[in-house]
Amino acid sequence: MKLPIYLYGHPVLRKISEPIEAADDELRTLVSNMFETMYNSDGVGLAAPQVGINRRLVVIDGSVLAEEFPECADTRMCLINPEIEILDGEPVSHAEGCLSLPGIAEDVRRVEHLRLRWRDENFEPHEKEFSGFIARIIQHECDHLEGRMFIDHISPTRRFLNKRKLTNIVEGKTRVDYPAKYAPVGRRK
Ligand code: NI
Repeated sequence: MKLPIYLYGHPVLRKISEPIEAADDELRTLVSNMFETMYNSDGVGLAAPQVGINRRLVVIDGSVLAEEFPECADTRMCLINPEIEILDGEPVSHAEGCLSLPGIAEDVRRVEHLRLRWRDENFEPHEKEFSGFIARIIQHECDHLEGRMFIDHISPTRRFLNKRKLTNIVEGKTRVDYPAKYAPVGRRK
């Protein structure tokens, strides 16, 4: 089942998400719906707050980017309670977009190497190192669990230049080609 994607301005995107205690069928149904929602909107990652749920859950599949970024091959993953340990390296800049920020793409600086600990949809623990663009996707999605979005990382100038686009999203004037949920009037943040 496809779920509506909550757009910039909705308060659910700004809350810190709660850890998940156990994996049950309800959670696995949510994971399956999130994958379907992500593929339907041509995304490579989707965090639970983006479907209105403040729990520490992310789905990722960067496989479509494997031609440009080989490290993204076979990266279909469900990350429950993910924890990032930054390993090393100077942050690098690359353009990012977000399904909750339609029509906006900006360069964001992120580190290239990280170690990730998480649980899968059967609550089995995993630990693995990631580098390159898949590490960027992981950082972008895990930011959502802290109530952060990629535009929080851009300069005040770039933010100013995107002001009209941001206002249009908040006011529900941006058209998106996937089911979406705009910020409720009076509760826009
Ligand atoms: Ni995003």
